[in-house]
Amino acid sequence: MIQKCLFPAAGYGTRFLPATKAMPKEMLPIVNKPLIQYGVEEAFEAGCNQIAIITGRNKRSIEDHFDISYELEQEIKGTDKEYYLEGIRKIMDRCSFSYTRQNEMKGLGHAILTGETLIGNEAFGVILADDLCLNEQGMGVLSQMSELYKRYQCAIVAIEEVHPSQVDKYGIIQGEKLENGIYQVSSMIEKPSIQEAPSNLAIIGRYILIPEIFDILRKTPAGKKGEIQITDALQTLAHQGKVIAYQFQGKRYDCGSVEGFVEATNVFYQRSQNAN
Ligand code: G1P
Repeated sequence: MIQKCLFPAAGYGTRFLPATKAMPKEMLPIVNKPLIQYGVEEAFEAGCNQIAIITGRNKRSIEDHFDISYELEQEIKGTDKEYYLEGIRKIMDRCSFSYTRQNEMKGLGHAILTGETLIGNEAFGVILADDLCLNEQGMGVLSQMSELYKRYQCAIVAIEEVHPSQVDKYGIIQGEKLENGIYQVSSMIEKPSIQEAPSNLAIIGRYILIPEIFDILRKTPAGKKGEIQITDALQTLAHQGKVIAYQFQGKRYDCGSVEGFVEATNVFYQRSQNAN
């Protein structure tokens, strides 16, 4: 059972400047909820009640978001506005939040390694909050992966097919189909060119990792963009037969890009209208 979920949230969010000049990109709202809250709700649904967040400078509002806001709550107490805080209160009541700062921006692998003290010696989920996932048909993506972990007991990356022109934006896997939508990963490469890419199966921002990953990350040299890449560390595990890739049910919105962000906003707005 996966109980901890790590949220790397120390990046600069340069694609959303100036909005992200003083505000973390994880706090950008889709309709009226910040991206990171969608992620935490997905983790909670998957059974994780220990939320570990890797932050950096300018990220205080994330900590404040998952904390009580006395003045505000006094102000709206007994009014119909209380309804708006129900979702976040439920999360705060049932989850614990811990934070650590990544003080140098040395890549996603480095961010995950920074979380070691919060995770310890157990398997854990990783959610990149700017990949917003929605499964209207049933379980959220991390829940689907957590179920799969019970069967395979190894690292799992969520994947989706992308257009070949897009492979250079993602970690790309090479694998052998084990069953429908599940691959045994033999190798993986971070942001390859079309020529280098072994497939068009792209890793999205959902992982289940095993604690061995920390030792591997410590030894992983800087890769693409001079950063320590989780894809490179997972490659080591893949060579030991310990990584599977899972084509998840649902849809991912790349809210790290303006187009994806606008698309998600439209879809979630429609959903909120239909719910009323
Ligand atoms: C990161 C990972 C990449 C993965 C992507 C998913 O890249 O390095 O392997 O495919 O997240 O969103 P980033 O988007 O941070 O450049």
